[in-house]
Amino acid sequence: MSELSSLGYVVLNVSDLDAWEHFATNIIGLMVGRRDDRSLALRMDEYAQRILLEKGTADDISAAGWQFDTARELEQYVARIRSLDVEVVEGDAQTAKGRRVEKLFSCDDPNGFRHEFFFGPSYAPISSPFRSPVMKGSGFVTGRQGIGHILPIAQNYEETVDFYTRKLGFLVSDYIRDSETLPGVDFDATFFHTRTGRHHSLATAYAPTSKHLNHMMLEVTDLNDVGLAYDRCIKEGLPIYMGIGHHPNDHVISFYVQSPSGFAVECGHGSIVIDDAAWEVKNYSQMSDWGHSRTLARSAR
Ligand SMILES: [Fe+2]
Repeated sequence: MSELSSLGYVVLNVSDLDAWEHFATNIIGLMVGRRDDRSLALRMDEYAQRILLEKGTADDISAAGWQFDTARELEQYVARIRSLDVEVVEGDAQTAKGRRVEKLFSCDDPNGFRHEFFFGPSYAPISSPFRSPVMKGSGFVTGRQGIGHILPIAQNYEETVDFYTRKLGFLVSDYIRDSETLPGVDFDATFFHTRTGRHHSLATAYAPTSKHLNHMMLEVTDLNDVGLAYDRCIKEGLPIYMGIGHHPNDHVISFYVQSPSGFAVECGHGSIVIDDAAWEVKNYSQMSDWGHSRTLARSAR
């Protein structure tokens, strides 16, 4: 049993806050929680913030925030990973306030970003419910499943998988080892879930790149909102990394668009939820059952 509850937030270091505000709200459908000249907090639901953008030059992920249900579970977890020689530091009050959480700890990922472990997220006032500026449906799939998933690139794949499973306690959902989709590329990815069961909150694969984040996936409640977001991207001429398609493992129908920071945002619908009591780990040989064409990506470059 994983003690981690869900991916509660991400922190991104971005160079162009204005471009991100437009992309996040008018294209993806998120809502601005607060904005100043150094940061932009985005909402997906009743939480005060789910995606925190901090102004910088990296255009990459700086932290993944993993949620725990109670202080006791958080503290037990920190004690356990410390016993496995993971260096964990307690976040100061200012960092906790900026993350809009009660308390947090953090450790470094072998690939150069931070994992934060927290409990007690802040909720927005009931008078300010989540309202997407552009979505047709009710919004994003969050709650106990967290915000979606991230796929950071592993420069040392075996060490990274070991760190995520044996030290941080993620559970393996499945594997995709695909040598067909991309000519000359042996795609090898491992997918991980937590105890609340989103098919994967984290996945990793090796790629020859200096960026940590390959993509971040956000899930919408209404399949129409995948298509409508896709149309908004096309209308705006945004680079589509992969057109609409279907993954065999999480059953998500999605497309991938380039964000203003270069990494992709996957907009999807239909992710399955894992019941660990009945789950069987599989090894898939295709990244996509259908679609996810890269033709559009090539023509956009
Ligand atoms: Fe994904």
